[in-house]
Amino acid sequence: MVAGNWKMNKSPTEAKLFAGLLASKIGKETVMDIVVFPPAIDIPFVVDVLKDTNIGVGVQNVHPKEKGAFTGETSLLMVKDLSVEYVLVGHSERRHIFGESDEFINEKVKAVLSAGLRPVLCVGETLEEREKGLTKNVLERQIRLGLFGLEKEDVVNTVIAYEPVWAIGTGVVATPEQAEEAMAFIRSLLGELYGMETAENVRILYGGSIKPENFDALIRLKNVDGGLVGGASLKESFIELVEIAK
Ligand code: G3P
Repeated sequence: MVAGNWKMNKSPTEAKLFAGLLASKIGKETVMDIVVFPPAIDIPFVVDVLKDTNIGVGVQNVHPKEKGAFTGETSLLMVKDLSVEYVLVGHSERRHIFGESDEFINEKVKAVLSAGLRPVLCVGETLEEREKGLTKNVLERQIRLGLFGLEKEDVVNTVIAYEPVWAIGTGVVATPEQAEEAMAFIRSLLGELYGMETAENVRILYGGSIKPENFDALIRLKNVDGGLVGGASLKESFIELVEIAK
């Protein structure tokens, strides 16, 4: 799976143009799932441009409640009305800039699954946590609490994205050894919690400063099932990443 998180970039006009480019270059791809996560306001336009392609569309954030007095938020009912399949949950920017807790993230994961969509649960340690030797503790806490109360059937519909905070938008990518160590740990924790068969079927993505120059080494790792790309998903390099993953 190769996924592009556009974050707060691209106006509807820019989004339509770029989606058109993706449609023409990689729209017929069948060997992997390709998903883009545009800003919420762009989604109807992007869905329309990508409707006859194999490129899926996801949303970067939702509120777990169905509707009500939550100014500025987007509900799953609204998102479901469009052809959206995936929802990013627990992205580092939501955790660290907007203060989302593991409990709130778990509420969102459950709401996304009950709505019949697939959550992409993002986890990852800060530099300080890594330097203190706490990487595995942080990952374990984020996964245990993020997936709390889920059945095996729900877990296989969940994608996990390992995004070390220190690698996001910094140009400092995890080494293949660091990525594999963390992702093998995540897989074995899933095995412990839900059984190895379930764990083998969960897709685990790496995210953090992915570029065409470093993606090949990452995508080959045993426990890496794809990438969640930020900056490099905003331009033609995203097309190169799809070619590399092939
Ligand atoms: O969700 C993707 C992400 O946070 C990584 O961003 O710009 O480092 O690829 P970037």
